[in-house]
Amino acid sequence: MFRQLILRLTALSPFRWLTIETRLGRAVAGRFVAGERLVDAMGAARRLDRERIASMLDLLGENAEAPTQAEAAREAYLAALKTISNEPSLDCAISVKLTQLGLDESVDACRANLLPILEAAERDGTLVMVDMESHAYVDATLEVVHGAHERFPRIGVALQSYLRRTERDVFDLPHQMRIRLVKGSYLEPPDVVFEDKRDVDASFRRLFVTLLARGHAIDVATHDPRLIEGARRRVDALAGGWSRVEFQMLYGVRRDLQARLARQGYPIRVYIPYGTEWYPYLTRRLAERPANMWFFLSSVLRSGRTRS
Ligand code: FDA
Repeated sequence: MFRQLILRLTALSPFRWLTIETRLGRAVAGRFVAGERLVDAMGAARRLDRERIASMLDLLGENAEAPTQAEAAREAYLAALKTISNEPSLDCAISVKLTQLGLDESVDACRANLLPILEAAERDGTLVMVDMESHAYVDATLEVVHGAHERFPRIGVALQSYLRRTERDVFDLPHQMRIRLVKGSYLEPPDVVFEDKRDVDASFRRLFVTLLARGHAIDVATHDPRLIEGARRRVDALAGGWSRVEFQMLYGVRRDLQARLARQGYPIRVYIPYGTEWYPYLTRRLAERPANMWFFLSSVLRSGRTRS
């Protein structure tokens, strides 16, 4: 309920203005976003690398409104791949959103933009993951990813445990495809998602077990200590299990836990968002935790009082 309320509130233009146009809003965004430029994201990746944490760059942006926007996103990803390839000692992947690459225009337009990214990544041995967006895009996303997997078997995709359909989708995945398992973060109607957190968590557990049994490489992408502990125990008990499972977390979220898992020797990767289109991403992070929203609103009130 809280999450839905925040996502509705942050969709209103005054809230958007307050966040984007004020120094305060930008400061809050700075907790979750590495910066506006590729160089900022690479700096974050190097800092994490010093703690033995791998990284995954995400150029912020979704729903390209014109072909030129999707082409610009493609070029930005090609530039990111080139920069990553210049630092071979850095374990750094990329993550793309298909609506940023033209999925709203057509599956073919999206494929045309994704292809050069996959070719460049394949040449350099860089992992490409595909984010999962709102439920309206799941069929098209899976269609593009399944098709690409035949030629680029290292491509992976995110699946959301809050979607009721995911428990069916897992049985149609290409053999051994890499899956990033997440809870899901979009505002969705109740007929397509589990609304109760306990059901979302139970679905996450079941999906993890199914994916593991079916031989997939799995990214356990959550900050939920109980789910992390459950996955850790299962994989510890499986011979060679850590060769195909890693933990993943978001930049700026549970840094203590990220560092602890890395110190304990578990494979962990952090998703590093960067770019100017950070507003939708920030709203999803604010909605995930009441404390984040409270921190933001109380800072606004404090700065208002200071000015008056
Ligand atoms: P949950 O929300 O239950 O949080 C568990 C605990 O983690 C909280 O109690 C709190 O301590 C901490 N926490 C979680 N979020 C926080 C925040 N914003 N600020 C501070 N603390 C926080 N979603 C999607 O729909 N498509 C996608 O492709 C992806 N991709 C993706 C990649 C990676 C690497 C991660 C980690 C996550 C995603 N997500 C995603 C987001 C995901 O769906 C989910 O919204 C967030 O991970 C938050 O949910 P948790 O699993 O952490 O659990």
